[in-house]
Amino acid sequence: MSDETFGNLLRAARKRAGFHTIAAFANALSERGLAYTDDAIGHWENDRRKPYHSDKDRLDTLKIFQLLVEKRGIEHTTQVDAMLAALNRPALSDAEKATYFSDLGTPIANLPEKPPYDRLVGRDEVLEAVSRMLQDPTGKPVVVVSGLGGIGKTALAYEVVKRVMQSGRFEKLAWETTKSEEFTGVGIRQRREQTISFPNVLASYARQLGFESLTTQPPEVLRVRLRDALRSGSTLLVLDNLETLEAAQDVARQLYELVSPGKNRVLITSRERLVDEPFVYDYFVKGLSEPASLELIRDEAEAREAETLLQADDALLKRIYTTTGGMPLALKLIVSQSLLGIALDEELDRLEGVVDEQQIYRFIYFAIWQKLSKSAQKLLIGSATFATTALRSMLQPVSELDDAAFNQAVPELVRASLMEVSHHSLAAQKRYDIHAMTRWFVNAPLMELWNRQKGLT
Ligand SMILES: Nc1ncnc2c1ncn2[C@@H]1O[C@H](COP(=O)(O)OP(=O)(O)O)[C@@H](O)[C@H]1O
Ligand SMILES: [Mg+2]
Repeated sequence: MSDETFGNLLRAARKRAGFHTIAAFANALSERGLAYTDDAIGHWENDRRKPYHSDKDRLDTLKIFQLLVEKRGIEHTTQVDAMLAALNRPALSDAEKATYFSDLGTPIANLPEKPPYDRLVGRDEVLEAVSRMLQDPTGKPVVVVSGLGGIGKTALAYEVVKRVMQSGRFEKLAWETTKSEEFTGVGIRQRREQTISFPNVLASYARQLGFESLTTQPPEVLRVRLRDALRSGSTLLVLDNLETLEAAQDVARQLYELVSPGKNRVLITSRERLVDEPFVYDYFVKGLSEPASLELIRDEAEAREAETLLQADDALLKRIYTTTGGMPLALKLIVSQSLLGIALDEELDRLEGVVDEQQIYRFIYFAIWQKLSKSAQKLLIGSATFATTALRSMLQPVSELDDAAFNQAVPELVRASLMEVSHHSLAAQKRYDIHAMTRWFVNAPLMELWNRQKGLT
């Protein structure tokens, strides 16, 4: 999901389109006169070969994309362009758009362009429930998706927002992601970026919704004017990653006052539940079911070519499920462990009986950490000093890596599911991000260990 090779993009689109195996995909292609062997497609997906070498073949490639569009594996033209870019080919021309992709939607304004997952597994019920809460015209104004770190709140929020925006329930959307200081208050290291304050969030909403002039107003004026501006319409405000209870309660109340009465709604993701507020629906997200967990492990193992895991027997997979409680991030990190050559039997022995979520992550991350190269370790530490995503121009100096070391460390962290690279056509504008749990690990347990080691010497 994180690196943008053509193979990864293709595999993700194929899965979203519901072709769970390469064979099923090949079949559907041949039904349209596009005869490719499973082998050929396998090569594309693993970037060993590209699907076309000349402009003459462009038409075939576009037809492949067309099938993926029909099956909803590709939802807007920017995704097609991203795949073409990964092939070093020009973006769609207007003529091509009109001829082959006329019914392809444009991206939803203000929704992050790239979904934070390849394929969302096992969440039909939750999606249904949360979408219904937001769509109900007489429902509560604030919906909170709560749950442990790495349980899949952000992923869910994204999918829910995509659905309700497509349904036409809301005219406008504004999405803001905040990062929390919760796990970093040990005084270990200086933050290089301030966390976003509530007035910053409001200013960002105002900017996204086209009220640019409000953003320079004092916070109180901004709040009142934004409320007035929202009153007559139907806007969905999303606040992702609001992880502390105190802030969440306070902010939820302020957002409630901002959007009501009226048709506007707020969707918040939070690590802490918000159960005591009458204007809030709190939906507590649990781990994935066993079948969904196995699907996620297989998807990840396939995408990252974790051969050992692909050949693992059901007993091992079942153990992974039981030990992680179906937490998606933990499942992904276990795949990373397998890739890094960590013996999963032993690792699961260690993890068994650990119930505390942070303790589980602590174990998993430490094992991974020890397998990383020095450069990758430095880059991970560097990334964790930023409260939000960072540009290379900021990240590289902080990590004290030269170009070659940086270029080698990024794919290593991506492959280990420790880093995500946002997709941007300009390399200098690419943003590097790590998950909140990963940031927590670097800023708390890891630092603690280091400080202790320093104390010993
Ligand atoms: N249902 C799911 N199917 C596939 N991947 C998922 C699912 N839920 C979460 N993930 C992946 O697991 C990781 C953690 O999910 P995330 O939404 O960031 O959790 P949270 O916001 O609760 O901390 C992400 O990489 C995300 O893409
Ligand atoms: Mg999140």
